[in-house]
Amino acid sequence: MGGLAVVTGAGHGIGSVIAARLAVDGFAVGCLDIDGDAAADTAGTIRGRGQLASGLRCDVRDPVEVRVVMESLVSEFGPIHGVVNNAMSWAPAGPVLGIDEAQWHADIAMLLGSYRTVTAGADPHLAPGSSIVMISSVHGLFGSAGWGSYAVAKAGIISLARVLASEMGPRGIRVNAVAPGIIAHHEGLEKYVGRPELLQQHVVASPLRRTGTAEDVAGTVSFLLGPDSTWVTGQTITVDGGMTSVLQLTELELYSGIWPDGAWPPQPQHSPESPADAH
Ligand SMILES: NC(=O)c1ccc[n+]([C@@H]2O[C@H](COP(=O)([O-])OP(=O)(O)OC[C@H]3O[C@@H](n4cnc5c(N)ncnc54)[C@H](O)[C@@H]3O)[C@@H](O)[C@H]2O)c1
Repeated sequence: MGGLAVVTGAGHGIGSVIAARLAVDGFAVGCLDIDGDAAADTAGTIRGRGQLASGLRCDVRDPVEVRVVMESLVSEFGPIHGVVNNAMSWAPAGPVLGIDEAQWHADIAMLLGSYRTVTAGADPHLAPGSSIVMISSVHGLFGSAGWGSYAVAKAGIISLARVLASEMGPRGIRVNAVAPGIIAHHEGLEKYVGRPELLQQHVVASPLRRTGTAEDVAGTVSFLLGPDSTWVTGQTITVDGGMTSVLQLTELELYSGIWPDGAWPPQPQHSPESPADAH
C-alpha cells in the first residue's frame, strides 16, 4: 500500500490507533484533530518509527478549514488514496424528542454532516482506486433508545456510505462503513459510562466474551483501505465480537424454566481470554 491516507479524530482513541496502523501498512498519514497538539503527537509518534505522517489541527465541521488542510497534506505527500471519517464528540444521551432543537442540529452537523464535509474536501484530491471509510457504530444499526442524536447520526453515516459508494463507484472510488461495538480503549467508553458492571454485562452477553480494542477496528479499516477489498463497496462491516449477532434472552426466558438449571449462560469449553488479557 502507499500514498496519502487522511484520518480524522486521529489525536485520541480509536483514530490514533487507526493512524498508526495505516502508517505500518505503508501510507503517509494525515492526522487531523480539533486538538492540534494531540494530532501532532500522533504524527510525531509515527514519524519516530521511521514512517510518514503529518499532524494538523482541523475542525471537521468547517469546510474552509478542511479544504486548507487537505491542500496542505496533498502538497506534502501527493494525492489522497484513503480517507477515514472517525472524529466525533459525544452528543447528550436521552430520548430523541427530548433534545433541545439547537442541540439536535449541532449534533447532526457534527456527527453526520462533518463526514460529508471531510469527504467533499478530500474529493478533488482523490486518486483513482481510493477508498473511504466511515466509522459508524452498532447504535446505527438498531433503534437504540436513549442514545439521542448519536444513534440517528450513526445510522445516517451508513446511508451516506451507501449513497457515496453508488455515486463515486463509477470513478473507481469505494466507500464503506465500519460499525464498532464496545471499544473500551483507555480514554473512551469506560470513562463515559463509569459503570464497570454494565461493561461486564456486555462481555458476558457477547459471543467472544470481551470488549473490543481500537486495534480490532483499525484492522478492519486497514482491510478496507487495502488491496484485498478492491471489490467491496457500499458495505457496513460490524466489528463487535458478535454482540449484535445474538438474540439476547430476557430475564423472563431465563427464569421461565425453558433452560435446564445451569444451562445458561453457556460455559466455555476452555479458558477464554479475559478482557484484561486481550491485546
Ligand atoms: N469507543 C467506542 O466504544 C465506540 C463504539 C462504536 C463507535 N465508535 C466510533 O469510533 C469513533 C472514534 O471514537 P473514540 O471512542 O475513539 O472517540 P474519542 O472521543 O476517544 O476520540 C474522538 C476524537 O475526535 C476528535 N474531535 C472531536 N470533535 C472534533 C472536531 N470537531 N473536529 C476534529 N476532531 C474532533 C477528538 O478530539 C478526539 O480526538 C467515533 O466515530 C465513534 O462514534 C466508538
